[in-house]
This record gives sequence, C-alpha cells and structure tokens, in this order.
Amino acid sequence: MSLLATKSLEALLAQAESEKGLKRSLGAMSLVALGIGAIIGAGIFTLTGVAAATHAGPAMVYSFILAAIGCAFAGLCYSEFSTMIPIAGSAYTYSYCTMGELIAWIIGWALVLEYAVGAATVSVSWAATFDSILLSFGIELPRSIVASPFAPQPGSVNLIAVIIICIISFILIRGIQESATVNDIIVIIKVTVVIFFIGIGYFFINYKNYHPFLPQNTGTFGAFGWSGVLAAAGQIFFAYIGFDAVSTAAQEARNPKRDMPIGIIGSLAICTVLYILYSLVLTGIVNYKDLNVAAPLAVAVDHMKGLPWVGFLMKLGSLCGLTSVMLVMLLGQSRVFYSMANDGLLPKLFSEIHPRFRTPWKSNLLLMIFVSLGAAFTPIANLGNLTSIGTLFAFVVVCIGIVIMRKKRPDIPRPFRTPLVPLVPILGVVVNLALMAGLGLITWSAFLIWMTIGLVIYFSYSRHRSTVQAARTR
Ligand code: ALA
Repeated sequence: MSLLATKSLEALLAQAESEKGLKRSLGAMSLVALGIGAIIGAGIFTLTGVAAATHAGPAMVYSFILAAIGCAFAGLCYSEFSTMIPIAGSAYTYSYCTMGELIAWIIGWALVLEYAVGAATVSVSWAATFDSILLSFGIELPRSIVASPFAPQPGSVNLIAVIIICIISFILIRGIQESATVNDIIVIIKVTVVIFFIGIGYFFINYKNYHPFLPQNTGTFGAFGWSGVLAAAGQIFFAYIGFDAVSTAAQEARNPKRDMPIGIIGSLAICTVLYILYSLVLTGIVNYKDLNVAAPLAVAVDHMKGLPWVGFLMKLGSLCGLTSVMLVMLLGQSRVFYSMANDGLLPKLFSEIHPRFRTPWKSNLLLMIFVSLGAAFTPIANLGNLTSIGTLFAFVVVCIGIVIMRKKRPDIPRPFRTPLVPLVPILGVVVNLALMAGLGLITWSAFLIWMTIGLVIYFSYSRHRSTVQAARTR
C-alpha cells in the first residue's frame, strides 16, 4: 500500500459529474456572501482589542494588511484549484490529487480544527453576545446554562451555544439553497453594521490616539514595534478565516469555473477593506492602551457620546456575524467529511445524502452532536489559535500543491491561473509559515497532539478502507 497514492483527477471529475449527489444551485453573489458570511465574526469583534493593546497599537492596521497578503496568496492558489477541481472537499481533495493520501488525510484532519473547532469556538461567543443582549433588556439567564464549567465565570453547561448549533445544523440539513438564503440576509445585516460603525466612528476619532502610531518595542519579541505587528498579525489572522470555505461549496456552485474565484477573492477583498478601516477607526476612537478587553467594540461605543442605540445595533450586528460564521463553518466541515467518506477514509454514513434535501444530513447531525458537546462542556473557547494554525497549515499545503500540479499536470485546463507561479505560491508558503510561527508554544503543542491522534486513526482505520488503495491493489 502506498501512502503516496494519488487520486486520478479524471476519475474524480467523472465521479462527481455522474453521481446524484449535492445540488448545483449557488451563483456568484451567493458565493461571495458565503465567504463574507464565514469571515466577519468573532475575530474582528473581539480579538482586535487585545491585539492592539498588547502587540501593535494603532499599527495593528499593518497587521491586518500583512495577514491579508498571506491570505491573498493562498486565495489565488485556492482559486486555481477550485476551478480545476470543483469538488466538495477543498484542500483535502486538492492534496489527494497532488501529494497523495497521507497528506490528504493530514489536511482533512487539520481542517477539522478550522471548521468544527472554529464553529464551537464561535458558538461560545454567540452565547455570550446573546446573553448580553438579553441583559440589556433586563432578562438574566441563570449562569449555569450560559457557560461551560471552564468559562472565566463558570457555569454547568453552555445550553445557549448548543441551541444555536442545533438550529444552524437543521437549516443546513434542509438544503444548501435555504442555507444560502439565510446567509445572504445575515451578511447584508452584518456588513451594514460594520460600515455603519466605520461611518459614525469616523466622526469620533481623536487624532491624538494615533501618536505614537507604531509604539516602540518594549524589549520583548512581539511587544510592540515591528515584531509586535507580526505577533498581532498571527493573532488577528483568525478574523480572515473563512474565504477558503467557499471552495468547499464548489460542487454546489452553478458555474464553478467562473464563480469560484469571484467568491474567494471577492469576499477576501471586501473584508480586507472593511477590516483596515475598522481597525483605524477603533484605535482612533479609543487609545490602544484601553483596549485590552473582551468586547472592544463596547468600549468604542461608550466613547460615542449621545448615541446609546449604537451599542445595541453593534451587538445585533455581531450576533448576525457570528451566526453566519457558524453556518459556513458547519457547512464546510460536512462537505469535507462528505469527500473523505466518499474515499473510504471515514465511515460511509458521513457521505450519505438525504433523498429529498440532497444534503449530507447524517454528517450534519453527527457534527451537531460533537460540536455541541465541545461548546457545552469544554474550554474550547480558548482554542481560537488552534483554528488559526490548522487553517494556516492547509494554506501552506495548498500553495505547495499549485507548484506540484503545474509540473505534474500542465495539461489540465485551468479556467483561473494563479499569477506568477512559482513566486506567488512560494510567498504564500513563507508568509503563512511566518504567521504560524507567531502562534506560540501552547498552540503548537496542541496542534501536534491533534495531528498525532489523526495519524493513529489513519494507520489503524482509514488506510485499510481507502477506496483509492483498494482500486490500486485490485
Ligand atoms: N473569521 C471568522 C471569525 O472571525 C472565523 O469569526
């Protein structure tokens, strides 16, 4: 058995065409919305404060630009792959075709960190935001049902997170079109709220807060100065995660060859502009030293004197933001599992399609259970960096994959070509590895433990059930 067994691209495309699986119903706009849906969420609403206060000050705007550059390189590579191989599995499938089964499994396993762990993390923020909205109406939920035993203010079970995970899972089971419609509406609301914050906030900027713009390094790596900008970039990278999730819906796009790059690059570009303006306004309204809080937006809103309703609007916008992030993450995870199960690496039930809704409903249900358990009872909310490292790892592999594929299969039609290969993919590898390096020892250790568990499963289960291996030995 070969660990390097690759999937034949032709067989893969033929299989995807012939099988009566997922339904092709998403247009370009829905794909852009899907990307924005996954991107704007907990990252921009919460992480920005701490990143500015402890790492970069107003120069955090450079961190947003740096992280966006890493994402853009990866996004260009994702675009080429997603038009060449418009299949549900995204980075997992791309690496199966280029680097073989073992790497594909490793990537599929790393994507669980991005999507399933990411969704659980975000659901905890959702519960906290929801709780604070109710509180502003004077409704106080018992602490025991709004926080896990590991939260800073511990509870017994995070029931609110469980409820939102269940609601979203049922929307996803109902169908991709229904999910996309819900996502479109939510995205319009949250983008409006972000633009609104930037527009109003502009008038409350105190230009003194921009001095010094790049606070001097304190002598420790990552504490301000340029190393601080790099550290902040690693931290706020989380805010960009999601544009790549568009590629998991490739098998459900009406015209993937034209629309995938629009969805991936378009959503990334829109969010980059919004983030840059947002971070400038935030650090302009509030001095960066006062931003070391979990809800920086609330602090900024407090500075907007005379506009008490803005705070409520912002919370509502964040709640919408977090909802669509979870929607797209849970969607992405079920589509990656769908592909892995089709290849025999996971049990078949992950790829069973509902006869009427044409969605991988059993996969959605199982994910609902596991993600709920994680959100309800564990300290998963502290694992945001784990989501980032898993995603960055996938980005690095996808960039490498483009170079390999250009050498190995120059003949395959590429409706979208990554410009300046191999320069762009190499820069993608370098920048994303640098961002990974900034994530710290604890994150790295947790990442390596997770990957080791994955390898044990691969060698004890998946490898022996792989359909690609079976076809080779037949
Ligand atoms: N980018 C997503 C968020 O910030 C994961 O919530």
